[in-house]
Amino acid sequence: MRHLISAADLSRDDAVLILDTAEEMARVADRPIKKLPALRGRTVVNLFFEDSTRTRISFEAAEKRLSADVINFAAKGSSVSKGESLKDTAQTLEAMGVDAVVIRHGASGAPYRLATSGWIDAAVINAGDGTHQHPTQALLDAFTMRRRLVGPDEGLGKDLAGKRITLVGDVLHSRVARSNVDLLHTLGAEVTLVAPPTLVPVGVEQWPCEVSYDLDRVLAKSDAVMMLRVQRERMNAAFFPTEREYSRRYGLDGERMAKMPEHAIVMHPGPMVRGMEITAEVADSDRCTVVEQVANGVSIRMAVLYLLLGGNEPAVTPRPTGSE
Ligand code: CP
Repeated sequence: MRHLISAADLSRDDAVLILDTAEEMARVADRPIKKLPALRGRTVVNLFFEDSTRTRISFEAAEKRLSADVINFAAKGSSVSKGESLKDTAQTLEAMGVDAVVIRHGASGAPYRLATSGWIDAAVINAGDGTHQHPTQALLDAFTMRRRLVGPDEGLGKDLAGKRITLVGDVLHSRVARSNVDLLHTLGAEVTLVAPPTLVPVGVEQWPCEVSYDLDRVLAKSDAVMMLRVQRERMNAAFFPTEREYSRRYGLDGERMAKMPEHAIVMHPGPMVRGMEITAEVADSDRCTVVEQVANGVSIRMAVLYLLLGGNEPAVTPRPTGSE
């Protein structure tokens, strides 16, 4: 694997290797000194053309924990505002000796273009493109599910075969939904999408999942329920029921959460719109993994960077026998 553009490009073995490597990285994060020398002397640029809190900070933390040199680029305040193209921006960075580019862009396909155009030699990692893909989000979600539903140690080498995962909300505009459906299917999970009819994409019947319009019927059969953010910035008013109607039919509150099996978890990629898609009671409950997903994101991004750039050395030096 030279780039990470889409969750659909990952085989089951690729995905399990990333999850297992992330498990090693998570153990490093528990140590007093959290840094590894794996990417010393390598340079990674974080190229963000769209806003981000979690993904941008998480990639930066992952890069620094692997000892890479980090360059942060935000389109706002750069020469992009003077009309500079993606090609010229990328080649400017390449000229500075960049080994990997982490890119978030509003245009679906921008990371693919960067990886396949021949403009740059660096590895390209998609940090979210338009409504298309967000592969590291899907990986951190799968990692969180495997840890919670199988176990950190018991899960090693395993996928999510037979786990029933429900994604709820604005599927139409969600790169998180697309990436999760692709990856969860590869990992053997059974996925159900629940959304208002106006927020279900055309052609969804080709996706490897079920579609339902009745959240209450699906909850009792779910091992994990992932609420999706309603992306008002990508839609016109015609797409959307009223907020009250959306909340009543598709929002997750305490009463609905009680219908889920006891072991089942509530997930959200963030940022959450509290009150509409998820109540504060649910978001702040022990069953909600939102903060855990953020922590797991650093381990997953360390694993992806290490596997793309790190070479063949073990990421973590084995501890001497008998030591803590
Ligand atoms: N989940 C996610 O991509 O969040 P950010 O937009 O804050 O990066």
